Amino acid sequence: MNEIREVLINEKYLNKNVNVFGWIKYRRISKEIGFLTITDGSNIEGIQIVFKKNLLSKEKFEKLLNINLFTPVSIKGKLIKNLRNNLNEINLEDFTVLNNVDNDFILGKKEHSLEYLRENAHLRIKTTLFQAIMKIRTTLYSELISFFEKENFYYVAAPIITSNDAEGAGETFKILKNNDKPFFNNVGGVLSVSGQLHAESYAQSLGKVYTFAPTFRAENSNTTKHAAEFWMLEPEMTFYDYFKAMDFGEKMLKVVVRKTLEKCKNEFKVLESILKIKIISELELFLKEDFMKISYKEAIIILKNALEENKVNFDEKNIKFGLDFGTEHERYLTEKHFKKPVYIYDFPFKIKSFYMFKNNDTDNTVRGFDLLVSGIGELIGGSQREYRYETLLQSLKEKNINSKDLEWYLNLRKSGYAPSSGFGLGFERLMIFVTKMENIRDVIPFPRTPGKLLF
Ligand code: 4AD
Ligand code: MG
Repeated sequence: MNEIREVLINEKYLNKNVNVFGWIKYRRISKEIGFLTITDGSNIEGIQIVFKKNLLSKEKFEKLLNINLFTPVSIKGKLIKNLRNNLNEINLEDFTVLNNVDNDFILGKKEHSLEYLRENAHLRIKTTLFQAIMKIRTTLYSELISFFEKENFYYVAAPIITSNDAEGAGETFKILKNNDKPFFNNVGGVLSVSGQLHAESYAQSLGKVYTFAPTFRAENSNTTKHAAEFWMLEPEMTFYDYFKAMDFGEKMLKVVVRKTLEKCKNEFKVLESILKIKIISELELFLKEDFMKISYKEAIIILKNALEENKVNFDEKNIKFGLDFGTEHERYLTEKHFKKPVYIYDFPFKIKSFYMFKNNDTDNTVRGFDLLVSGIGELIGGSQREYRYETLLQSLKEKNINSKDLEWYLNLRKSGYAPSSGFGLGFERLMIFVTKMENIRDVIPFPRTPGKLLF
């Protein structure tokens, strides 16, 4: 048995007999000769199979004439070079059908919308578009991991079941037994909204750590950028201030995007031809640009001026200190004003989480930062952490969070907590950015969004 990826370009199999397995993706037939494209998942192109009437039994030739698309088959034949495209193809000698495809389940008879495919995940993954997306997702994932390995980070498996709401935003899913009673005696237990607090504790000994895990938010945001279950990558770096963490985030994104572009050339070409948009040149531009950094206050001035000068029309027009930016504001800043990725930092404490380091200023700002990119808005959210015990306690009070639940986290501050910074990258948002797909539901294998749980 040979993988298609291997025989498509490898000279060593030329003019030899090969045996590939795969699904029939395309079929083109004339009177005496027919062509199939077979894919096995090992590459995006598949391989062309040529079959000739005079070389097959009548019965077998007719079987191929009527075979349904996506039938899994085993193909035997001689590998030859197609001189027109310089790719190898197989002259069919024999084949076996491994299973049948019901007539009702044939994909390719008509074009399906992305919405239809979302609800039919078994069909969705058979499309070339989703094969390309999944190859890019796999590559991005492993490039992130190898980046952190090269940067000498420890990997911490943050728990999925936790006792605390790490963001303090009240968006946790509670864990109950199937008799509706809490499983963890007196504490309910929740699904993690972020691995940050656990990462912080390990960073206080290991220096540089990261978590990469599913996270869950019961937030009723029915948008194209929010999912109830998504993957978050969270590095935590002791002895880094927030500016160093921002620079590190820029470096990380550029390395993984560059490597993914290199490794998934064909998949990006497929995306470009299906979506009819430019992706590769846009990502190449992204690699060349330096990210901007501006304070929240500067962002407010830019947005206010843009509105006053009629450069833009926002739904939320009340632009003043304290506004929690909406996607419309974020996208204006990165897409229209700066035309490049931009970090916003020093947010009002009121709109950010309890754990961010408080600046000593009259506006009550914290050393939090968000990275805004085109097509999305917020891609990364992070901060320098509050390391002063008393200040952290005060922040919890101001946010009405019960400090009892976070005693272990507070106690870290009493046991030699060194200044530390970190951030969270929404992995699906990065997928949206890289693939230019518009909906988070189309870059995650099985989307979970408000009110919708299929499969
Ligand atoms: O900004 P967030 O809420 O930050 C945190 O959770 C911090 N604890 C991270 C840290 O400092 N370690 O989330 C981080 C990122 C966002 O910038 C966004 O990309 C993504 O996670 N994100 C979501 N992605 C998809 N669906 C949702 N509902 C998301 N909520 C956040
Ligand atoms: Mg955020």
